[in-house]
Amino acid sequence: MLAKVNSCSVTGIDGFIVEVEVDISYGLPVFNIVGLPEVSVRESKDRVKTAIKNSGYTFPMERIVVNLAPADIKKEGTGFDLPVALGILVASEVIPPDKVNGYLIAGELSLDGKIKPVKAVLSFALAARQKGYKGIIIPVENAAEAAMVDGIEVLPVKCLSQIVDFFSGFVDIEKYCIDPNWRTHVNEKGNGIDFSEVKGQYHAKRALEIAAAGSHSVLMTGPPGSGKSMLAKRLPTILPELTFEEAIEVTRIYSVLGLIEDNRLYISAKPFRSPHHTISDAGLVGGGSKPAPGEISLAHNGVLFLDELPEFKKNVLEVLRQPLEDGKVSIARAGAKATYPAQFMLVAAMNPCPCGYLSDPMGKCTCTHPQIQKYRSKISGPLLDRIDIQIEVPKVEYKDLAAKTKGEGSVQIRKRVNHARKKQEKRLAQLAVSSNARMHSRHLGAFCHLDGECEKLLKQAVDVLGFSARACHSVIRVGRTIADLDNASKIERYHLAEAIQYRSFDRGFPQ
Ligand SMILES: Nc1ncnc2c1ncn2[C@@H]1O[C@H](COP(=O)(O)OP(=O)(O)OP(=O)(O)O)[C@@H](O)[C@H]1O
Ligand SMILES: [Mg+2]
Repeated sequence: MLAKVNSCSVTGIDGFIVEVEVDISYGLPVFNIVGLPEVSVRESKDRVKTAIKNSGYTFPMERIVVNLAPADIKKEGTGFDLPVALGILVASEVIPPDKVNGYLIAGELSLDGKIKPVKAVLSFALAARQKGYKGIIIPVENAAEAAMVDGIEVLPVKCLSQIVDFFSGFVDIEKYCIDPNWRTHVNEKGNGIDFSEVKGQYHAKRALEIAAAGSHSVLMTGPPGSGKSMLAKRLPTILPELTFEEAIEVTRIYSVLGLIEDNRLYISAKPFRSPHHTISDAGLVGGGSKPAPGEISLAHNGVLFLDELPEFKKNVLEVLRQPLEDGKVSIARAGAKATYPAQFMLVAAMNPCPCGYLSDPMGKCTCTHPQIQKYRSKISGPLLDRIDIQIEVPKVEYKDLAAKTKGEGSVQIRKRVNHARKKQEKRLAQLAVSSNARMHSRHLGAFCHLDGECEKLLKQAVDVLGFSARACHSVIRVGRTIADLDNASKIERYHLAEAIQYRSFDRGFPQ
């Protein structure tokens, strides 16, 4: 007999329906899975067979063929265990065939028949709703994640026999329901850090406020212990909170990697990713033999912090160039292609030279010129060109460090950032982008009008400081953000002048 059970898989972060077809016919006992199964799916044969037996059912000693359709896309993961087992039980007439149709089913089986959590359930639930399924049957541990999607029933299951009894009409499975107000009261607990803890460094704080307001990328250069890492870690505390749609998108990425903790609904805080400098290019942008999202996608809608930038391998940094401009990354492998969102704010920190004291007024630097050149050459011109704000973070003065008064806190700064972001969203609504940094250069003319004075200043920047076309565009974008923070409708000369001084590498610093 032939049975069909609906399951799901993902390409990128989008779920697609997989029809699990099971045919049992007379012949020598064999159990084959076709339809481009990867190792983890092929191995499910043993788990399924043992789980069926240990749940008290008879495993048919006949010819079993399982087809995972569409058959031309690779399938991986352990989520097909449960649909395959149910398909076998339907085909061997343990479960009535018509009952399973309206549900999308996924789950890993352990040998004793218990059901274990799987990855990407949020994408499955979205696909189930889009395709009009009545509900989704998933492991208990994944229920909260799936319940974020309105309009479908979420049936959490613990073991194979429970779901067989449900389809046979002996028991009911309680639908997973969450508090209807969950969106309002689920919130990440902050880790208690605040901008007010950073003493002095007013220039750097101002630059980070501008960066947060316009979602601009930042590079901080300064001697050891000047507070670069400290400043970067506090950046998420002044960024606007994620909207619900952004939060769902971020959660989908984490869900595909199985990084959603049990019973956690969704990721509501801006992601802050700080990979170590030994990371590989696949780890950073995504990929590997089986495409998977990398750190830049995990930082989607948040911050990617690269501390000690020149310590990263040069080829690793170079792969950032394309996603920095496109806001997404496409990975193609034999038989598999995936696109992951990657709209992140790049924040990088570095010392001006290998010893770190190049700009020290006491002349502590011991580096030779070739050493400095070698150190800096790790960061290519094209990458630097893509970083909107490049600032110096000098040693903090003792009088600032010893000051008893607290600086401005993150809450106040975030208010200004939010206000500036709202202005941008309103102005750029027709472009479907929410920040100045995401504005394409072809739209600058329409959204960032420059008067004669501003044009003159920009011409000087190109003629005297040698700004590239991209650097000019970036100055205009940053100028627009400064004007937004200033509540000005038009970019003034002083807005642009401030933006120009944030291009310290173009201005020849640090020497
Ligand atoms: N502006 C500051 N206000 C208060 N504390 C500071 C400041 N700058 C540095 N510190 C103190 O110094 C420590 C080291 O700072 P941080 O790690 O941010 O330096 P860094 O610039 O990243 O140095 P490195 O180049 O070595 O990575 C911080 O944990 C903090 O305690
Ligand atoms: Mg540091």
